[in-house]
Amino acid sequence: MTKLMAGNWKMFKGPTETYAFFDAFEAPDGVDVIICPPFVSLEDAVGEEWPIYAQNVHWAAEGAFTGEISAQMLVELGVQGALVGHSERRQYFGETDETVRQRAEAALAAGLGVIACVGELEGEREAGETEAVLRRQVEVLPVHDRLVIAYEPVWAIGTGKTATPDLAQEAHAFIKSLHDTRVLYGGSVKPENAADLLAQPDIDGALVGGASLDPASFSSLCRIAASLS
Ligand code: 13P
Repeated sequence: MTKLMAGNWKMFKGPTETYAFFDAFEAPDGVDVIICPPFVSLEDAVGEEWPIYAQNVHWAAEGAFTGEISAQMLVELGVQGALVGHSERRQYFGETDETVRQRAEAALAAGLGVIACVGELEGEREAGETEAVLRRQVEVLPVHDRLVIAYEPVWAIGTGKTATPDLAQEAHAFIKSLHDTRVLYGGSVKPENAADLLAQPDIDGALVGGASLDPASFSSLCRIAASLS
């Protein structure tokens, strides 16, 4: 199956740096690519050749929700989807399984794609709770052909501590036993470790943070994914 490589820029790159990225970024045929810039750079990014996703989306069409953006607003801009439930939103902004479900359902109803993020904390893994946490996070998600799940063990995000390919494969197989969808791996994915991860049978692509900011490294990751698709 064609691998999907999604770049989550987090709170990096305003419009000027967004242009510079697309000037230099190249992806071969044989890989699906999605870029997730911050809200202020979406409008510039949607003119490029790759699907553009927001990093969050609200469940209401409009209303008194200061600081939030609706699915309809993203559609109007030409954005094709949104991340929901990223662990940074769960950890720092009070996101819950229930609000993740609401955001996912609203985005799908508006015609957007969704990448829903799940993953356990380090303490939860150490306590043997990984499967219980993943089950809780995954079971609230709607089953839909425009919804993809990203498994991002929180202890591997931005830490350089990648899950081993075996450990990631085990979590992906478990998630697929609960929810029939593509599952991306996220957490310190880099050109040096991507091939071993992407070669696993249930790792259908990657959600890349830091290494998606540099066009050369994200181009290289896309080439690796294409060669394994
Ligand atoms: P890093 O690739 O920087 O570890 O980030 C992963 C991530 O959170 C992608 O959403």
